[in-house]
Amino acid sequence: MRPVVFFLTIGLSAAADIDTEGLPNTGLDTSSWTTGTAPPIDDLVNLHDIQIAAKNTLSAANYAYYRTAALDEVTYQNNLFAWNKIRLNGFSFTDVSDVNLKTTILGYEFDAPFFIAPAAKAGRADDGAEGNLVGAANAAGILYIPSISSTQSIEEIAAAAGDDQVMFHQEYVWSNKTRLQDELTRIEDTGFKALVLTVDNTGIQGIRNWQERYSSSNDNGHDATFTIQSLSELQNMTSLPIVPKGVKTAHDVKLCADLGFPAVYISNHGGRVVDLAPTAVEILLDVHRLYPEVFNQIEIWADGGVRRATHVLTLLALGARAINTRQVELDYFGAPLSGETSSTPYYVSASTYT
Ligand SMILES: Cc1cc2nc3c(=O)[nH]c(=O)nc-3n(C[C@H](O)[C@H](O)[C@H](O)COP(=O)(O)O)c2cc1C
Ligand SMILES: *[C@@H]1O[C@H](CO)[C@@H](O)[C@H](O)[C@H]1NC(C)=O
Ligand SMILES: *[C@@H]1O[C@H](CO)[C@@H](O)[C@H](O)[C@H]1NC(C)=O
Repeated sequence: MRPVVFFLTIGLSAAADIDTEGLPNTGLDTSSWTTGTAPPIDDLVNLHDIQIAAKNTLSAANYAYYRTAALDEVTYQNNLFAWNKIRLNGFSFTDVSDVNLKTTILGYEFDAPFFIAPAAKAGRADDGAEGNLVGAANAAGILYIPSISSTQSIEEIAAAAGDDQVMFHQEYVWSNKTRLQDELTRIEDTGFKALVLTVDNTGIQGIRNWQERYSSSNDNGHDATFTIQSLSELQNMTSLPIVPKGVKTAHDVKLCADLGFPAVYISNHGGRVVDLAPTAVEILLDVHRLYPEVFNQIEIWADGGVRRATHVLTLLALGARAINTRQVELDYFGAPLSGETSSTPYYVSASTYT
């Protein structure tokens, strides 16, 4: 018996044994995967699978860099699992044979109401880095917003764009104003159409324990003196439309709307900056309760834990950025999936169960 047991032990240690971190069990079988090697793409049928594939393939340090979040990761987990409290009320008697997913974002047409959010250092996963994401976004007809902390330069990313491909660019509020102005100018000169200005880590350093195991954070240089006044002054540093990203309260959504920004981007940065921040769903519910008029003033974009089309639908139903012209009723969070131009708008509403 003993040699057989020994043989089995060797066999099992070669296969990937991956902690799936409490993600929903949809039957993913990793037993034939080899640690350090990308698994067959056909094995991956949802975004959770892709996370597990990344965990299998990347070095522990690179996985930690992408996966980590602040402190006890309460916000990171809430982003993923707050959807459990949502019920989508779908109406049955609607012709949905010709659904159109197209939408406009800041007036530019895209084929779907979701986009690729800014995320630092794509080159830690693949040598093609951000250029791969530019190509993927172009092929899918969706918006890509590269990060200012990308592996590739602003110019390299811009050069990868397809004909007529519209991209926006993310920026941080650096305390070094020379650097800030220089980057704003380069972003404008290379053809990006809008600036997504991340305002959630001015004066705050995300404490990410998982990442700390591998290296000390180098995410510094952010301006600790940044206020709503500086935000309006920053509008003078570029002619691009500015979209504040990382807004986490209804109060700040309202401030941005009143300052005349064309859109505001509700986000807790994937839980990476501060822990115990609310989720986009909770913030949107507060906006409906306190300042429902802002849905008619500006576009509202949102992210955090969006892994399924049902999550996109939930945020659309709560009035997030699908369309910027539509009236959103206070007591009925309806939103056409397809925009005003669709011949067959499909309505859903969302309610929360606490
Ligand atoms: C690895 C990683 C890097 C990120 N880098 C940036 C960044 O450079 N600038 C930024 O504004 N947001 C950054 N974010 C936050 C994302 O834009 C987005 O708000 C967040 O990932 C959404 O939450 P989710 O990861 O649960 O989908 C990063 C997120 C991740 C996971
Ligand atoms: C500020 O940024 C500029 C442009 O990137 C750079 O040349 C300069 O060294 C920076 N200053 C400091 C104090 O880091
Ligand atoms: C922006 O610049 C204009 C023209 O120089 C100036 O009048 C205005 O006060 C500036 N706005 C802010 C908020 O600094």
